[in-house]
Amino acid sequence: MAQWTSAVGAAQLARLLTSQQERPAGPGTRRPPAYRALADGIRLLVLEGRVPVAARLPAERELALSLSVSRTTVAAAYEALRTEGFLESRRGAGSWTAVPAGNPLPARGLEPLPPEALGSVIDLGCAALPAPEPWLTRAVQGALEELPPYAHTHGDYPAGLPALRAMLAERYTARGIPTMPEQIMVTTGAMGAIDAICHLFAGRGERIAVESPSYANILQLMREAGARLVPVAMAEGLDGWDLDRWRQVLRDAAPRLAYVVADFHNPTGALAGEDQRRRLVDAARAAGTVLVVDETMSELHLDPDLDGGAAMPRPVCGFDPAGSTVITVGSASKAFWAGMRIGWVRAAPDVVRSLVAARAYADLGTPVLEQLAVNWLMSTGGWEDALDIRRDQARENRDALVAAVRRELPGWEFEVPRGGLTLWVRTGGLSGSRLAEAGERVGVRVPSGPRFGVDGAFEGYVRLPFTVGGAVADEAAVRLAAAARLVETGVGGGAEAPRTFVA
Ligand SMILES: Cc1ncc(COP(=O)(O)O)c(C=O)c1O
Repeated sequence: MAQWTSAVGAAQLARLLTSQQERPAGPGTRRPPAYRALADGIRLLVLEGRVPVAARLPAERELALSLSVSRTTVAAAYEALRTEGFLESRRGAGSWTAVPAGNPLPARGLEPLPPEALGSVIDLGCAALPAPEPWLTRAVQGALEELPPYAHTHGDYPAGLPALRAMLAERYTARGIPTMPEQIMVTTGAMGAIDAICHLFAGRGERIAVESPSYANILQLMREAGARLVPVAMAEGLDGWDLDRWRQVLRDAAPRLAYVVADFHNPTGALAGEDQRRRLVDAARAAGTVLVVDETMSELHLDPDLDGGAAMPRPVCGFDPAGSTVITVGSASKAFWAGMRIGWVRAAPDVVRSLVAARAYADLGTPVLEQLAVNWLMSTGGWEDALDIRRDQARENRDALVAAVRRELPGWEFEVPRGGLTLWVRTGGLSGSRLAEAGERVGVRVPSGPRFGVDGAFEGYVRLPFTVGGAVADEAAVRLAAAARLVETGVGGGAEAPRTFVA
């Protein structure tokens, strides 16, 4: 069996390498030999996740032609990559990308610390904001008033409270996606939804295509379910989804599921356009892949050009009128408060019935009081008022964090997303894993890039969430700069891991 799960063509690899060379070289940089420059370029593409791990590389002759270099140069570059652990080859099967055994592999998602454990540490570990009061208190009071009729029942609603299912269906219908209550299942957060979906569709060993990078905890959930993750590299900047690449990976790997965050992707903040959405659905349909679309961030549009949400692209499920390809996941965690633990699924009625059966052995159902609270918010207009508070908070935090990082760490690069809760930051060649370790010593918690990758990619990144603003954002950036100095001078973090990820 082949060792690779996707392939990168010669023309595509040449394009990626060229875009890399357009980046300015540092002052006094000496030109390395051609084979070394090529090997370094490919290695960087792998470490940045722009060429996935386990992607088959073109044959030497084809790449030499595309790059207008000699075949000997490509052969020497491939040999160097093999020696360094970035390439594996087998006669007859070709060569595919890898990461060396010593590279930190993501075996964990993100671990939120209980707030009491943080002390004076600034926590940039979680992309979640405090509750938008007074709406949490009001919603719980409203829920208490509506509780008595439910208190006389056994309280188990594996598909969710009928009132909330109807409310969520109505909200999709109002967005132009006609939906019946039978198409909705209420879950324990978006995590509960994806857990049930993996349980139903992706047994052990099954392939799931994921964006690379993607949300760390969902990747970990899928790994623990025994799935084989097939990474599809996100395009650089906020362009996000390269549909030629998606079509190719879905066709070649034929995964059972594909998981995407099309609205303010976590961690890059990218927002898929309508054409990307249409083509993604078409590619999934053609490959027989179920497309799981996580809308957890979709209501967090922060910029005026999105016109208060009116100018948001149509939901991905709007491109699947037959409902045979897309399963949508939503959540109250980012729009309202993660402590509610309320999420949901929108799918075809038969899929919802199977999901309800699949979740029964996990958690039986979602707490009634919290469902009533979300239903109260949505039926009174409190949801929209709370969202206004939430968006103002996220926007202010984003702008403060962007200004502080630009001031304290001018060499770090990022795009400013139009929504969501995260900045995806390239750390000027410093190891994100070492930065995370050094951050612990100077009082700032920050997750390193590889947590958001599949196979040790993204060592040169960290994710910064919009959870702090004002003076705390300033202080967070000052501490990150202190962590960067520790890494640069070699006194931060473990002794073995390299300080920079580009040797
Ligand atoms: C894209 C995405 N999906 C799911 C989740 C988890 O959602 P929940 O708290 O509803 O389980 C998060 C949280 O950060 C997220 O960013």
